[in-house]
Amino acid sequence: MPPEGANAGLTDQLSGTRFTEVRWVEEVDSTNRALAEEARSGVEGPVVLVADHQTAGRGRRDRTWLAPPSAGLLVSVLVTPAVDRSVLPLVTVAAGVATLEAVEELTDLVPDLKWPNDVIVEDRKLAGVLAEGLDRSVVVGVGTNVDWPEELPDEIADTAVALNHLGQRVDRAELLVIYLRRLHHWLGVLEAGHSDQLVDELRRRCVTLGQDVVAHTESGDIHGTARDVDDRGELLVDTGAGVEVISAADVIHVR
Ligand code: BTN
Repeated sequence: MPPEGANAGLTDQLSGTRFTEVRWVEEVDSTNRALAEEARSGVEGPVVLVADHQTAGRGRRDRTWLAPPSAGLLVSVLVTPAVDRSVLPLVTVAAGVATLEAVEELTDLVPDLKWPNDVIVEDRKLAGVLAEGLDRSVVVGVGTNVDWPEELPDEIADTAVALNHLGQRVDRAELLVIYLRRLHHWLGVLEAGHSDQLVDELRRRCVTLGQDVVAHTESGDIHGTARDVDDRGELLVDTGAGVEVISAADVIHVR
């Protein structure tokens, strides 16, 4: 169940931010899907939807996002930021950075970002971000592994980690509040026309930069060295024959 009185308490703690409408439900198919449907019907947000459990949680590249009930913070936000369309992809970066900052604030951990937006600790994925754009609105969803059983499902046993596995006890509602406060901050930075500040933060936090990588894109694999990100947060990979600009991919760090 959602924490007792959570919705009311959350509203108080989020005063001063744009996130005054927070819904915390026990179960939904996917918080991203539900808010994307609202966006299609004309809702501009900001709306926040949190679920204890998703029956069809969505991951990137049509994968499923797995989490037993109450094991993760599963949150989507529908926003229509006052920014140029070209800046909208950076809302996803804002969500990744905000997640990392929230984890950092509540734990002893110093997580990294793996491009595009995975929050990782010790090479394992702690949180993932999935954004879906609709005209000028964005639905950005984050799943953070907070309190999982000791044994992870086979599909993610070698790649994922949860905060409790790292000795960190974190309250999901507290994590949510800090995440939304930081997301509010970064959206404000974008709206003020300072997207370079967020891109600099991505550069500072992104462990992919400087690494030899294989980027699995829709149109094939790209091998090379990840040199930088551009002003939209796209990854610049030096293949030896030129620089490829990658906007979406699964990236493997080769070294
Ligand atoms: C990834 O593949 O790394 C992205 C995972 C995103 C999962 C979150 S959980 C809350 C929101 N609702 C969804 O269906 N997916 C995102």
